[in-house]
Amino acid sequence: MADFEVGRRRFFLFLAAIGSVILLVNLFMLSGTDLRSKIKNIPINIPGTSKGNGHETAPNPDLPKLPSWHEDNGNFEEHAAVNDKHPIVDLMQAADQAWTKYEEDRTSTFKETVAKYRRTYGRHPPPGFRDWYKFARERNVHNVDDFSQIMDDLRPFWGVEPAVIRSLAAHLHETEGNGVSGLHIRDGQVWKLTNANWRVDTMKEMVGSFVKYLPDMDIAMNRLDQPRVVVPFEDMQNLLAREVSTRQLYPDALAEWTKDLPGLFKENDTAPVITDPEFVLAPGKQYMLIAKEACPPESHARKEDSSTRSAEVLYKEDRGGFVTNFNLSSDLCTVGPEVESKHGFLFAPSTVVASKRLLPIFGECKVNVNNDILFPANMYYKNDERYAYDPTYDYDWDDKEDRMIWRGVTSGGTNTADNWMNMHRQRLVLLTNATVMADQEVRIMSEDSNMQGDYQNYGHFNPSEFAAKHTDIGFTEAFACVPDCGFYDDVWTYKNMTTLSQQFESKYVIDVDGHSFSGRWHAFLQSKSLGIKSTIFREWHDSRLFAWRHFVPLDNRYDEIYSILTYFIGLGNPSAVSNGQPYIPRHDFEARKLGRQGREWATKVLRRADIEIYMFRLLIEYARIIDDNRDRLGYSGDGSELDKYDTQHPLSPSMASKGGGV
Ligand SMILES: *[C@@H]1O[C@H](CO)[C@@H](O)[C@H](O)[C@H]1NC(C)=O
Ligand SMILES: *[C@@H]1O[C@H](CO)[C@@H](O)[C@H](O)[C@H]1NC(C)=O
Ligand SMILES: *[C@@H]1O[C@H](CO)[C@@H](O)[C@H](O)[C@H]1NC(C)=O
Ligand SMILES: *[C@@H]1O[C@H](CO)[C@@H](O)[C@H](O)[C@H]1NC(C)=O
Repeated sequence: MADFEVGRRRFFLFLAAIGSVILLVNLFMLSGTDLRSKIKNIPINIPGTSKGNGHETAPNPDLPKLPSWHEDNGNFEEHAAVNDKHPIVDLMQAADQAWTKYEEDRTSTFKETVAKYRRTYGRHPPPGFRDWYKFARERNVHNVDDFSQIMDDLRPFWGVEPAVIRSLAAHLHETEGNGVSGLHIRDGQVWKLTNANWRVDTMKEMVGSFVKYLPDMDIAMNRLDQPRVVVPFEDMQNLLAREVSTRQLYPDALAEWTKDLPGLFKENDTAPVITDPEFVLAPGKQYMLIAKEACPPESHARKEDSSTRSAEVLYKEDRGGFVTNFNLSSDLCTVGPEVESKHGFLFAPSTVVASKRLLPIFGECKVNVNNDILFPANMYYKNDERYAYDPTYDYDWDDKEDRMIWRGVTSGGTNTADNWMNMHRQRLVLLTNATVMADQEVRIMSEDSNMQGDYQNYGHFNPSEFAAKHTDIGFTEAFACVPDCGFYDDVWTYKNMTTLSQQFESKYVIDVDGHSFSGRWHAFLQSKSLGIKSTIFREWHDSRLFAWRHFVPLDNRYDEIYSILTYFIGLGNPSAVSNGQPYIPRHDFEARKLGRQGREWATKVLRRADIEIYMFRLLIEYARIIDDNRDRLGYSGDGSELDKYDTQHPLSPSMASKGGGV
């Protein structure tokens, strides 16, 4: 036992030390580079069949040739069963409405965009806004207004002196244990990377196309997987109050950044610095203990006597348990008590180096209580063949297998014989294992025996046979175990690795977190398969993706997974109902529709250009909050100088105007 403790402590130190290496190794194993490099040599492209972008490939000639989804004119509405009262129908309709509104609310001229900015944020847009706007429009930005994540992330910094933010950003990288890289911009160029790794190398590429427009600044980038900043609720309230009180629209705003701001990073600098980031190392500590301090006192996470049900009504449908509010379904203040022992990052995090002080750290993901400044994950930009969308096996819908697939390693936290059942990936693999589920019953929705099109809960579904037939989920390797992974020997049968593209042979691709966010998500959305998504992490793209229009949201407990799968895949036959057996008609059409909507949307809003546009906007907003004159900086014009430009560069048409289908 003592040996075990020592081994464990050593292992935690080891994890803390290698930090992001874990993710890298992890990523490498997930996607089977070996297999991949063999496949690359098989010529799959049949000349003349590519559909425009040169990446489309013909389906495997052995598969039946069913009508392609490209040829059905999008007549989805005609198909919808008139009397289907399944809750998913309502959820899809509500999502369509929300998304249509999103489409219709876009501004289309610089004049409108700046007016909307002032209306929304109570400030002028920052200097550089016109350059950014043209940059975005030239790259065909689909929605030029939707950057609220940036504003939310930066708001609290109005409560911190600019010199303090600059000092922290300049020096955080200097202490190895901080797990921070630095990117330093001088004279319109990336002057230097400090404590560099592949992540900040990628970030440098990401800013390359617009860095010439930026003033001097230092960026501190998180190089660990886990988020870093959790400001307690009451402190955050004070910071936000300062932000609100500083909002003003000066008629004579300063249009230029302040030159030569003191306190930026210099080599061999002897000037005094304000650097204590007050990091606390908490590997293995349950994350909700840290997180809940940042939640409102009346929230479910902090109120001992609040019930699960009172929180669930906020994000989950009563019948079937489907997620109604994806945002709240991953809000730890709302769901924390329900998921704290069901997710690896919450239950057994490996590297936590966190601070309660508001630090200007740029991160790729966070949970809702974190105050890290989100930027688009490097992996989405890197064109890494293990994560980038590859159409090789992305057959047309009807040629795909009727099953849900997942592959991965046992990441998510530190695995021990005692805790692995409390980790999210492990739970998913158990829940879809036919042997494990042989004597289990789960809740699904079944058609009402008296009323076709009505559904009711059915609590006694044994999913074993269904899982065997319609899921292909398993680990390829055990990983991050203490003292070693031997305790898994009788638990899993390791499956062969697949490439990301091979997973698109299945209609349903489920995406769950690893140590942190999942880098597969953009590729899943870009594919013709339907993404089913469960996560506790926030990312840069959240506000532009609509659950139940572009993907299927899944509760982090997975309690409705079989309700979802049986709805899309179907179960039993109508005569079963009178025998007390469940019956759910097949909704393959709806699944295909969602998969297709997600794919078409991804080509509009998740492009590499969209990542650059986001990053450019983020950095001009950041440049303002670190400027000593930030209160008086801004663009105070009315925007009319781009009237002519706007007529020459019409906005890409709303997708909603094409009617219900896309
Ligand atoms: C900083 O100090 C190091 C070590 O003394 C020296 O090699 C380097 O040239 C100095 N850099 C600058 C910019 O002065
Ligand atoms: C499913 O569970 C059984 C029983 O625990 C186990 O033997 C088998 O290896 C598991 N399968 C997978 C794919 O992990
Ligand atoms: C897994 O890979 C091995 C080695 O390449 C191969 O022999 C085996 O048939 C594969 N198993 C499955 C289920 O594809
Ligand atoms: C999620 O909800 C919070 C709190 O209501 C809100 O501030 C945020 O903008 C929402 N995020 C998205 C992506 O809708």
